[in-house]
Amino acid sequence: MKIKRFIYSLSEEEFLEFIYENSMPVEVVKRQEGVVYFAVYKKIDHLKPVKVEEIGDDWKNWKEKYKPIEIEDFIILPPWKKPVFIKPGLAFGTGLHPTTQLCIKALKKHLRRGMGVLDVGTGSGILAIVSKLLGASYVLGIDVSDDAVRECKENAELNGLEIECLKASPEDISKSFDLVVANLEIQIFEEVLKDVLPKFEELGIFSGLYREEDLEKFKSMVKDYKILEILEKEKWFAIVLKKV
Ligand SMILES: C[S@@+](CC[C@H](N)C(=O)[O-])C[C@H]1O[C@@H](n2cnc3c(N)ncnc32)[C@H](O)[C@@H]1O
Repeated sequence: MKIKRFIYSLSEEEFLEFIYENSMPVEVVKRQEGVVYFAVYKKIDHLKPVKVEEIGDDWKNWKEKYKPIEIEDFIILPPWKKPVFIKPGLAFGTGLHPTTQLCIKALKKHLRRGMGVLDVGTGSGILAIVSKLLGASYVLGIDVSDDAVRECKENAELNGLEIECLKASPEDISKSFDLVVANLEIQIFEEVLKDVLPKFEELGIFSGLYREEDLEKFKSMVKDYKILEILEKEKWFAIVLKKV
């Protein structure tokens, strides 16, 4: 089936009215001199398109085209996007760092609804929050920093989620979890990995490994586990392990 992409233009003011009045998601193509050009995949009866394009297989990725629209204090999101609120603070974990992004990617792929999750080095609580949004039944975030534990609690509340945030090291935790996520660094893994590995029953996601050298060091410490996946971004690596 040939899919059509209709491009319309409206003044900023008319565009605002349009998106308040119509619940359809739109893709903003460009904003120029007070005019917003936007694309939709069905004809809008009362507007004249500036362009109509026929698209090929591209339409299969149509959801990727809907980027968040920021207007004043509002961010307009299509319903399949999940907002994560992180208050600016002292703890690591704004989502900008590749190590955090790799963990989120791995969690999205491997976390199954109902899993219990331990987030080691939770920082702002970002990975704990994402785990809960992905359907984890119980999430515990631990950190050795007081600032991190306080901000993990604040951010959990801000997102309306029930997450336990504790000041603790992996050695202080006695129970085990379906999945453990830990975005630390190689020097810390060398110290604490022996206490982290027994905490997961099924999957472990480990990030914060810089360059091949860290990755190889880490691999030598987890020879008894199956490597499911290695993810890379900007020379940072994350590794997903399965208990065998
Ligand atoms: C790189 S940050 C990761 C923050 C967040 N999880 C993220 O992915 O953006 C690492 C965090 O681990 C914490 N940390 C360092 N050593 C730790 C340990 N032995 N046990 C628990 N947390 C630790 C630090 O305080 C810091 O908040």
